[in-house]
Amino acid sequence: MERSDGVWKMEKERDKVVVLDFGGQYSHLIVRRCRELGVYAELLPYDYPADELREGIERERGHGKICGIIFSGSPFSVLDDNAPKCASDVLDFGVPVLGICYGAQLIAHLNGGRVRRGEKKEFGSADFFFKKEERLFRGISDDGEQIGKTRVWMSHEDVIEDLGGNGEVIGWTENTPVAAFRIGSNYGVQFHPEVHHTERGKDMLRNFLEICGCERNWRIDEDFVSERVYEIRSVVGSDGKAVCALSGGVDSFTTAVLLHRAIGDRLTCIFIDNGLLRDGEREEVLESLRNTGMKYVFVDASQRFLDALRGVRDAEEKRRIIGKIFIDVFEEEARKIGADFLAQGTIYPDRIESARAGASGGRASRIKSHHNVGALPERLRMKLIEPLRDLYKDEVRKLAKTVGIPDKILRRHPFPGPGLAARIIGEVNAEKLRICRAASAIVEEELRKSGWYERVWQAFAVVGDDMATGVLGDARKEGRIVIVRVVSSEEAMTADFVRLPYEILEKMSRRITNEVEGVTWVAYAISSKPPSTIEPC
Ligand code: XMP
Repeated sequence: MERSDGVWKMEKERDKVVVLDFGGQYSHLIVRRCRELGVYAELLPYDYPADELREGIERERGHGKICGIIFSGSPFSVLDDNAPKCASDVLDFGVPVLGICYGAQLIAHLNGGRVRRGEKKEFGSADFFFKKEERLFRGISDDGEQIGKTRVWMSHEDVIEDLGGNGEVIGWTENTPVAAFRIGSNYGVQFHPEVHHTERGKDMLRNFLEICGCERNWRIDEDFVSERVYEIRSVVGSDGKAVCALSGGVDSFTTAVLLHRAIGDRLTCIFIDNGLLRDGEREEVLESLRNTGMKYVFVDASQRFLDALRGVRDAEEKRRIIGKIFIDVFEEEARKIGADFLAQGTIYPDRIESARAGASGGRASRIKSHHNVGALPERLRMKLIEPLRDLYKDEVRKLAKTVGIPDKILRRHPFPGPGLAARIIGEVNAEKLRICRAASAIVEEELRKSGWYERVWQAFAVVGDDMATGVLGDARKEGRIVIVRVVSSEEAMTADFVRLPYEILEKMSRRITNEVEGVTWVAYAISSKPPSTIEPC
């Protein structure tokens, strides 16, 4: 297992498909779809060194071979001066390449073809006609005709006019004469097979993986757990000690359980109550810790956090303070234990997104400074272990289930490091914390009762300083406004508000105004991300 140092590197042991990332919004989704089809896939930057790719392609099967390459979409046009491009010889490396959207245009461009700006953008669903004899479309339509038809999702402006040498058009739509093509064993599709709106997109990806000869052996099961446990043992050695910051979320808990399996009591979990936890969370985490038999230290530092947050209104300043105190408290405890390793539940999108931000030379603007213990290993001279570093959230959940993490933790919605402070606009104080905590608990409870909890990404209440008039009996009463936020999301990068039935919203509102002292109004947040974020601070 490598140390993560912000450098975006290829994993070397598993056979894989590589997705070259040209900055498209669906790049992660392509990787996830391949993995769902049982093939290990990785996202690499578009300018990943060609000789390393070639070296990966030349490996034997079963020894980290690259079996196929997919070019992602991109916000750029191949006609732009600064368009991201990979070396053209990638197309001749001898493994099949599939280009998606921009990726398809790039293949045509690199093959000596011609791409031009379209008169208008094509966005949305379209009827796609294709040659059924092509392997990419095998099994997608089984009537007797030679030309098949299915719905696909388009999102492009440029059009491919000419494919260059050897190219053959294998699919088209009314507006796009070259919607799919083959050049030797390389393919291009102008639409997005990775999104659900493309009805048979997953089948097309499965066909491509078959063309690549990929073995479908990517599974999160007991063998995977044994592999990770073995790796952790070999990294930590026979007498190394590790600490793990446990937040109670599924990532940190799964990390801790893997470490515990590998090194037993040489792992100490550190659980810090920052005073910003959800209702009942402290007790639940402590109970789960006791049940799993892991060694742990519990620190109630809530007063220290709340004192430091007094009078602070700025969202980023609050995050900075919480992050700093967290590191201070953690450091004090870790020093007492004297560990050599820090185990952290970093997952694949976190790691790639920081590397992507780094790859933009710091040009990507920082929306929120994320709370983590990133600076700690240097300060404490500890080495970092990140056993989940290659996994997506749904894969972590599978792993968590395999190692027997309690259902309560497994099914909990993601919760930010700065805790309820991310849901309190303005100063964090005892009054607003009480309201946010109690109202969030009601939101969660009503979703659980109605069967919606597991269908949404996150659900909670937000509170700020605005007051609104209400009536209590016959008297006027000033109280706070609570905003209920329930979103669906793909890995938190985009989010949409959930169209909850009015009866559920009404029940939440009634209970919040009746049961949470000091609230007179309840509103429902209907903005999406972007332009909003999921949590307001
Ligand atoms: P936003 O609110 O920025 O959040 O749309 C995206 C997702 O990330 C979670 N979040 C965090 N997670 N440390 C974390 O580990 C943080 O500092 C942090 N801030 C936000 C948030 O809950 C949502 O799921």
